[in-house]
Amino acid sequence: MSYRIETLISKEELAKGIERVAEEINRDYGQKSVHLICIIKGGVFFMTELSKHLNMDVTMDFMAVSSYGSDTVSSGIVKIIKDLDEPIEGRDVIIVEDIVDTGNTMEYLMELLRDRKPSSLKLCTMLDKPSRRLKEVHPDYLGFTIEDKFVVGFGLDYDQKYRNLNYIGAVVFDE
Ligand code: IMP
Ligand code: MG
Repeated sequence: MSYRIETLISKEELAKGIERVAEEINRDYGQKSVHLICIIKGGVFFMTELSKHLNMDVTMDFMAVSSYGSDTVSSGIVKIIKDLDEPIEGRDVIIVEDIVDTGNTMEYLMELLRDRKPSSLKLCTMLDKPSRRLKEVHPDYLGFTIEDKFVVGFGLDYDQKYRNLNYIGAVVFDE
């Protein structure tokens, strides 16, 4: 099936939104250090851009997860592909994610990380698609709320492609 990609959030809008989120984090944490946990691969572009605007000491770690089961039916079971390198006990942790959709991934992950006793745990997501939510997941920091569209760019992929786009585009299938 042929498709095209329509700009949903321009490069400029995205940059502004990310700066706004960074300012909120700067205001809330002050000089407290933060430990960012980037969910790869999708969260990488957002995390690097966001972290450039943070004023406190920042450390980073990476985690890779994937949903079990078929692509069409979200099972709610999440598999850890790559765990964190360092313990998070006693640290002020912010999870940095590309998009929250059904909420299955984040609900599972936040519960798992909470068990590791961080001093605090917050969720920061570039995009939120609340219309498809199945779990009670509420981002603490949010770039943009979007409609129920399949989006690509700035870390988000369609069949592993388009992560490198410097804007967010919606995939539109031709009739
Ligand atoms: P959730 O568990 O349903 O919230 O799924 C979240 C994950 O699904 C995200 O981290 C993305 O990897 C992927 N995802 C959800 N919506 C989109 C989209 O519109 N484009 C690309 N990936 C998406
Ligand atoms: Mg993801």
